[in-house]
Amino acid sequence: MIFYYSGCGNSRFVAGRLADSLGEKLVFIPDAERKGEYSWTLQEGERLGFVCPVYCWAPPRLVLDFLRKLSVSGRPGYCFLVLTYGDSAGFSTRVFRKALSGIGLSLDAAFGVVMPETYVNLRGMELDSASEARAKVIKAAGELPRIAGQIMEEKRTDEVFMGKAAWLNTYFVRPFFYRFLVTDRPWHVTDACTGCGLCAKVCPLDNIRIENGRPKWLGHCTTCDACYHNCPVNAIRFGKATEGKGQYDFRKATEF
Ligand SMILES: Cc1cc2nc3c(=O)[nH]c(=O)nc-3n(C[C@H](O)[C@H](O)[C@H](O)COP(=O)(O)O)c2cc1C
Repeated sequence: MIFYYSGCGNSRFVAGRLADSLGEKLVFIPDAERKGEYSWTLQEGERLGFVCPVYCWAPPRLVLDFLRKLSVSGRPGYCFLVLTYGDSAGFSTRVFRKALSGIGLSLDAAFGVVMPETYVNLRGMELDSASEARAKVIKAAGELPRIAGQIMEEKRTDEVFMGKAAWLNTYFVRPFFYRFLVTDRPWHVTDACTGCGLCAKVCPLDNIRIENGRPKWLGHCTTCDACYHNCPVNAIRFGKATEGKGQYDFRKATEF
């Protein structure tokens, strides 16, 4: 069984490919949250996997919140984490291990997959160019069979790239990120908005409602930026931070 969360599609892509190779069932964490499904039974020796992006050098808070509520009966034969990130994950694995130990489980392996950048909500944070994004996806797709092989062999490893100033980023910068930047107050639309409702449809947390032909953010945004990247007329803005930035075209980057 693989539990996964994805905002813009990168981690869904990785989770989907791994699930196909390994023959695992996929559970989308926001769906489990919506249904209040926290109790799961594993068959004897079944693998337990988690796939999610890195948000400010740690797993997204919503993933950690889900872990705290999760109850798994039956001991997993092997437990693994796959993180997707634009360049580095800081102490994400350690943060995840700690949350997992709270429910009596431990990780056997952690893998990292570099995928296109999605975060645009701060000035200076730029997306990859279309060709860079595509190159990252091609490289990642090439690495996934190897990762699936290691999972099948139940290899004990930690391959996650932490990057520079990892401790500072995870334990010092991240609290400020959640305090000041994880908010939906700056989201708004330009006059180009057609009220098509795609932003509401792609929001993994059902945090957008269309009111009077315009999106309204409902107060529990995780700043995954799916609404921003999927807007067909690029009408969504996060304060002034998104000015002049393009959109990440997940479909184009992952078309094979
Ligand atoms: C809120 C947010 C924070 C992010 N923080 C990091 C980070 O700390 N390090 C990094 O390398 N990439 C970071 N990224 C990029 C994502 O981890 C990366 O693009 C990931 O593959 C997105 O996965 P998804 O499409 O499944 O949401 C961040 C993206 C978002 C939206």
